[in-house]
Amino acid sequence: MAQPATAAAPAGTLDYDPFRPDFYTSDPFGTYRRMRDEAPVYWSERWGWYALTRFEDVRAAALDADTFRSFEGMDIDDSRLEQVPPGSIGSMDNPRHDQVRSVVQPYFLPRRIAGLEDGIRTVVRELVASWRDRGAGGGGTVDVAQELAWPMPFDVFFHLMGLPSRHDPDPLEQARRDQLEHWTHELKDRVPGTPHLTEVARAATAGVQRFFIDLLEERRRSGRDDLVTEFVNADIDGVPFVGDRVTTESEVSGLMMILFLGGVESTAGLTGTLFELLAENPDQRALLQADPSLVPAAVEEAMRLITPLQLTARTTSRDVTVHGVTMPAGSRVVLIPGAANRDDRQFPDPDRFDVTRPRGRHLGFGEGVHGCLGAPLARLEARIALEEALPVLGDYELAGPPTFYPSSPNMYVWKNLPVAFGRSGRRPHVEAVHHRTTTVTLATAELETTARVVAKQEAADGVVALTLRGADDRPLPAWEPGAHVDLVLDGAPTRQYSLCGDPADSAGYRLGVLRDPDGRGSSRYVHDRLAVGHPVRVRGPRNNFPLVGSPRYLFIAGGIGITPVLPMIRAAEAAGADWRLVYGGRRRASMAFLDELAQYGDRVSVRPQDETGLLDLDGLLGTPEPDTLVYCCGPEPLLAAVEQRCAGWPRGSLHVERFAPRPQGEPARTEAFEVVLEQSGLTLTVPPDRSILSVVEAAGVGVLSSCAEGTCGTCETAVLAGEPDHRDSVLSEDERQAGDCMMICVSRARGDRLVLDL
Ligand code: FES
Repeated sequence: MAQPATAAAPAGTLDYDPFRPDFYTSDPFGTYRRMRDEAPVYWSERWGWYALTRFEDVRAAALDADTFRSFEGMDIDDSRLEQVPPGSIGSMDNPRHDQVRSVVQPYFLPRRIAGLEDGIRTVVRELVASWRDRGAGGGGTVDVAQELAWPMPFDVFFHLMGLPSRHDPDPLEQARRDQLEHWTHELKDRVPGTPHLTEVARAATAGVQRFFIDLLEERRRSGRDDLVTEFVNADIDGVPFVGDRVTTESEVSGLMMILFLGGVESTAGLTGTLFELLAENPDQRALLQADPSLVPAAVEEAMRLITPLQLTARTTSRDVTVHGVTMPAGSRVVLIPGAANRDDRQFPDPDRFDVTRPRGRHLGFGEGVHGCLGAPLARLEARIALEEALPVLGDYELAGPPTFYPSSPNMYVWKNLPVAFGRSGRRPHVEAVHHRTTTVTLATAELETTARVVAKQEAADGVVALTLRGADDRPLPAWEPGAHVDLVLDGAPTRQYSLCGDPADSAGYRLGVLRDPDGRGSSRYVHDRLAVGHPVRVRGPRNNFPLVGSPRYLFIAGGIGITPVLPMIRAAEAAGADWRLVYGGRRRASMAFLDELAQYGDRVSVRPQDETGLLDLDGLLGTPEPDTLVYCCGPEPLLAAVEQRCAGWPRGSLHVERFAPRPQGEPARTEAFEVVLEQSGLTLTVPPDRSILSVVEAAGVGVLSSCAEGTCGTCETAVLAGEPDHRDSVLSEDERQAGDCMMICVSRARGDRLVLDL
């Protein structure tokens, strides 16, 4: 063991001992503060290592891999050589480290990780699906750590490795999965207060290593589309990465162990901490709920403030002097990112959780050659967890003290995080609106993005089909038939356009745009100025016209109203439904996408008005068909006629999508009225010539909105009292009758007072 050449004795009672069982529950951050200020190069007499805590010192050491070497592992307990043995990437120096990392790095490039978004979102939605029922009717509790933060990264890791999902019907595969999960938790078993692993941890370590070596053997015999098979097929400078040599297998299984420990435990730590910090800081949670674009910043701030990997270790290859203290060659040095990330020399007010903090470099994902390989994946998982679970939890609070996961001293991770939610006292319909609007906005938080026009083709007279790709070819957000996006145009008003491509094609969107010479200028801009190669801002997608499951559909499209119908008929066909499309237009040459529709044969009836006259709506809709859903999109006269014909159909049969506002009669009331904003405690007067939205915004209350003409549904607000005068084009007749929500960009009050959930 190296001895200190220059004593760096801590002052007074400053005692840093991460092995102490209560270390992380007894203000570790206060200890770090004193270390940074009083002993920036701390010497632990008891354990025989140095510790660095200041931001610049930790970063410089992490970047200087020639001096601060990794061959003795990054842990400070026995696990450093037993669980991550020599020959695995965590205890490897260059040049071998970079060679091995180059095998796995391509799998974790941000572009490739972005392709996992839909799958991760599905996992998270399944995990939180039951929470909503628990929160209804007066509130419930959920353990965010055990029911989200841990199972989410487990599922993602199992997916990457080609291991069975939790839905695999094979009991043997499930037992295998359960065994691996069980061992993972036992890996962390330590003799309290010491650096020693227990026999249980040693047995679990052997079990996990054997598991991974057997998995390699399986994939060697029969490959799949997974990361392990990529390892099996990879080579380094022409030499197979997975050879027959035991040492090489040790490298590979060690790499998988690192991915497992890093990918699962760190992400569980980050996710749990994020929800814990938002419970403790309701003001910051409210900021996120009001402005979902802050979600990625919240993830970074949680990573900075309570870094899951609190410490990592190195061994010096030469004498190094820092702040006048010389650490001899061969010294073990503990780098503490958990302390560096709270250094007030780097971060103003460093102990505050602030989701509006300007983005700056933190050391949460490490730096240098051992910087976190899976950082893009951890960020993605944490973001999706927040986007999906926060709308369900709403204004939640801790339901009891969180408990720590019994991990190595390197880690700060929650084992249990019980929270209570759904106790807002809101009535069920208010909860429903709150959920709808918050889900839409949080789920689309990242979705206002710059795309690029990669194709622009004439689809019919006066119609162009635009194909958009994500910037840097990143996949665009997932969508479902009936969805639309906002095109946020530079020099023309923002406009909504239906997505008419294939939802399975995550690489790009297709839109059909009809030139409207009398419109507000957006379609003229698209036709005349937007060209291939141009960037364009896209917001959404959003869906007010979802395809509801049914054995039979009648689709009616007029003109450009064919666009949302195209993905719908594809979905109906794939589902084996019995469907028909009647597609009307002025002239055949003005009707877009006819070539594409030809594949469906006589399921599609093309009815150009100059050839066949007006659509025979009486013939189509004269007799109600109880098991048929009618979907209609097109110009207002067609929609009005279809609504009239469907008046006698069963409730819920008809679904319409409007591109333009539905014509409205005179408002029910021409005088000013009062709106009471219950949450904000404000009472405002809405004069006859202004919308509720503009008055509310002028009072400084944030409301999300987009179209401002009652067609997109973004500004939906719950009504607590009073009778709305609905003037939107989104709500169905039944929804209007219920009177419990309204689009405040256009709708008004019938009486002299409305109370809104704002
Ligand atoms: Fe689009 Fe109100 S902002 S409906």
